[in-house]
Amino acid sequence: MANNDEDMLVTPWEVRGKIDYDRLIKQFGTQRITPDLKARINKITKDRHIMLERDYFFSHRDLDWILDEYEKKNKFVLYTGRGPSGHTHIGHLPTWMFTKWMQDKFDTRLYFQMTNDEKYFFDTHLSLDDVRRFTYENTLDLLALGFEPENTYIIDDIEHIDLLYELAVQVARKVTFSTVKAVFGFNSSTNIGSNWHPAIQAVPAFLHSWIYGKKTPCIIPCAIDQDPFWRVTRDVAERLGYYKPASIQNKFVPGLKEGGKMSASDPMSTVFTTDSPKMAKKKVMAAFTGGRATVKEQRELGANPDICSVFKYYKYIFMPDDKDLKDIEQKCRGGEILCGECKQILAPMMMEFLENHQAAREDVKDRVEEFSAARLRDEVRR
Ligand code: TYM
Repeated sequence: MANNDEDMLVTPWEVRGKIDYDRLIKQFGTQRITPDLKARINKITKDRHIMLERDYFFSHRDLDWILDEYEKKNKFVLYTGRGPSGHTHIGHLPTWMFTKWMQDKFDTRLYFQMTNDEKYFFDTHLSLDDVRRFTYENTLDLLALGFEPENTYIIDDIEHIDLLYELAVQVARKVTFSTVKAVFGFNSSTNIGSNWHPAIQAVPAFLHSWIYGKKTPCIIPCAIDQDPFWRVTRDVAERLGYYKPASIQNKFVPGLKEGGKMSASDPMSTVFTTDSPKMAKKKVMAAFTGGRATVKEQRELGANPDICSVFKYYKYIFMPDDKDLKDIEQKCRGGEILCGECKQILAPMMMEFLENHQAAREDVKDRVEEFSAARLRDEVRR
């Protein structure tokens, strides 16, 4: 997972440096999402999604196979998740928004795993109370995006371990220590909970098949940092009698400072969904951009949106209209707009988004239980 170049590191627990997505595809052995594949999705869904069009989702495993099966009426389930170690930030939301779009367009079920056990094992500063609290808080963020309980099942690892355990032991027996050492870089000081975790994260990929006794394709939308888990999961899948899970993988929403991804470990670089709109504005106004050293230079030479975090927010989240995006890009490259002015456009968008999201979070507070995977206990076939 670690790159030879010291400047880029992408693991499920740490992402830093300048990310070279082409190299990640090669390194991880995934496939690029081609224009043909996008066109196929657009045709089936009779829609287009900017996160696909603009290559936010850029890489996959077996997405073409998932579509083949879908067209043969062998419908897939969706699986994604969150490690509740803190408040949700803006970088987590696009994957979930896109997941909701897929759920609506393909009319399919979502399993959403809250790996509170993972965060408890890996971040020894967190107490069980902390990870439980963040499980709840993060669930509000997910539900605020408009999911409905009929086809959304939230798995709380600690609460619902009885649903996961039978499959987890089967996975765990097939994964050796040398595999997790090689894939995740674990060593003899890694606690045994962390060593076990890949078995738990594999389970939701097979859960539907196991519960209903019917081999069912599964696709996992997530950022590419989670891919090591799917390598292990795919490796055991067929030996356990299940399909290998497919995945559709996104890039990282950058932090507001230079380099790396948005991450809770750098609060000024990160807009949390619980930040006050005023605080979010302050963070946006301090963001890293692709601007020049002086106004004069910028007017003459233009700025560089390719390296600008503000532009990525427009591109992937806040400017769905291609015309608006093109317009701001041209003004930026042509030196017509300065970075301060450009941030003044993003800030109110971010503030309005947060106001609406926070109101939606309030509205779902009493509904969390409706989404619980505990409902599945009655359906398990043994
Ligand atoms: P976690 O909580 O680190 O991240 C949750 C999801 O958000 C993605 N992500 C990002 N995407 C874009 N930009 C960012 N800056 C950014 N930071 C995080 C992650 O890739 C992930 O998709 N072990 C997992 C929890 C999990 C999971 C899953 C995730 C369990 N099962 C299945 C995805 C799919 C974790 O700690 O995610």
